[in-house]
Amino acid sequence: MDADTVQDDLINILFTEEQIQGRLGEMAKQIEADYEGRDLLVVGVLRGAIMVIADLTRAMDRHVEIDWMAVSSYGSGTTSSGVVRILKDLDSDLHGRHVLIVDEIIDTGLTLSWLVANLSSRGPASVEIATLLRKPEALQMPVEPKYVGWDIPNEFVVGYGLDYRERYRNLRDIGTLAPHVYS
Ligand code: PRP
Repeated sequence: MDADTVQDDLINILFTEEQIQGRLGEMAKQIEADYEGRDLLVVGVLRGAIMVIADLTRAMDRHVEIDWMAVSSYGSGTTSSGVVRILKDLDSDLHGRHVLIVDEIIDTGLTLSWLVANLSSRGPASVEIATLLRKPEALQMPVEPKYVGWDIPNEFVVGYGLDYRERYRNLRDIGTLAPHVYS
């Protein structure tokens, strides 16, 4: 979906499709260099990460294995209890594997701090994080992603996998949602 289609719902476009592809290309090259000669298992966090996984892994000029997890935080609306529940676990055994968790955004950090601890307990050789976006002002838990596309303000962003009530995920760009949509 093009931003023109939902322009009344957006305050601005933060990153265009071209900017996103460009940044993911840079991140892919960095990841390729860092993992040269090593097996790599990319773990995508459903559902928001599907676009990032598709484009980031295709920008890598090497073999890469992809697996998926679905998790859910207990809590409602904008609050979270910090308790995370596994809805779909990995199919892969992590023993001795180099694991790269890929997500589209780190907000409070609750999801990824929990995931890193959970996956680290399964005997991997390493666990790192790549995220397209990070909101430093919203962070509540210590999470240290090795690869970050961009730091953004603490605003409601949609598109490129990011949803508001399951809509806007298929928007090509990333934009700031206008308050009239959610208030
Ligand atoms: C989003 C995103 C991250 C998480 C980040 O997922 O994909 O996994 O929130 O937020 P946090 O840093 O505050 O934990 P969400 O729970 O919205 O599910 P979705 O991917 O299905 O949209």
